[in-house]
Amino acid sequence: MSGQPSSVRIVEVGPRDGLQNEKTVIPTATKIELINRLGTTGLRSIEATSFVSPRWVPQLADAAEVFAAITRLPGVSYPVLVPNEQGYERARKVGATEVAVFSAASEAFNRKNINASIDESIERFRPILDRAAADKVKVRGYVSTVLGCPYQGEVPLSDVVRVAERMHRLGCYEISLGDTIGIGTPRKAREMLRAVAAAVPMEALAVHFHDTRGQALANVLACLEEGVSVVDSAISGTGGCPYAKGATGNVATEDVVYMLQGMGITTGLDLDRLIDTGLWLSSQLGRETSSRVARASA
Ligand code: HMG
Ligand code: MG
Repeated sequence: MSGQPSSVRIVEVGPRDGLQNEKTVIPTATKIELINRLGTTGLRSIEATSFVSPRWVPQLADAAEVFAAITRLPGVSYPVLVPNEQGYERARKVGATEVAVFSAASEAFNRKNINASIDESIERFRPILDRAAADKVKVRGYVSTVLGCPYQGEVPLSDVVRVAERMHRLGCYEISLGDTIGIGTPRKAREMLRAVAAAVPMEALAVHFHDTRGQALANVLACLEEGVSVVDSAISGTGGCPYAKGATGNVATEDVVYMLQGMGITTGLDLDRLIDTGLWLSSQLGRETSSRVARASA
């Protein structure tokens, strides 16, 4: 155990991961307002949307409109997901300066999610990383199914390490390790992170937990104790991947920030504003927030 970091950077994935799984179409104006509200909370990384195929994720078909209309604040990064060069070009056309590519540790999930093997997906990323380097665009990398796969079941740790290392070598500045279906528990999460950190520097790693089985905060804590200092979360606990059977919301940003503040870890975030933003979003979605902290404050 390496103790805990003194500060943590939250990567807010609500506008992308949070909304991509919503069944009813959310108005473009609501998505824009969500990102702009999040911008007032102190967040420095707000994943804005996804330039994937609109046939695969119809909810985010308005990615270009959303990205073009948001107020981009100085010092705040607005990464967007891109699965291929076509996505990269669409993102660049509206001025994206940070993108995220995504693969998985499980072949079965990758095939369902992006219709490619792991090797094929990494080959698709190569030209994106080359172009991004020339364009001075930062590239983040996701590895999904790091603690289990909805189709293949167990995912060997060596596969997680191999994919994370390949994506880091390719030039991704940060690798986010995703428990896509929220199946992990703290000891497994810690062991997974430790194994990856032996191949990729801890400073270049982030964790991304879905809360399907109520384990996400415990998993975040285990990984903080292991030394990670970047945590992905979604406002109001929204989220899920339409191609990961049984996946539900991400760990709620409000809940992570409450825990970090209670532990004396700096986040630079305004918890009250986060709570207000999450409650506003849940009212827009017509259901109660999944954030326990927001519910307790309401
Ligand atoms: P494909 O069908 O194999 O693609 O899908 P294709 O290259 O054969 O193209 C088919 C059609 O899609 C063509 O249109 C292309 O132009 C179009 P047509 O000629 O038939 O009219 N197309 C595009 N259109 C707009 N933007 C693009 C694009 N690419 C192709 N970028 C593909 C392959 C990768 C495109 C598809 O599988 C896809 O978009 N998948 C995305 C799935 C997704 O977004 N999943 C959720 C995000 S991942 C996640 O949530 C996990 C994460 O949160 C971490 C974790 O929790 O673990 C990140
Ligand atoms: Mg996710």
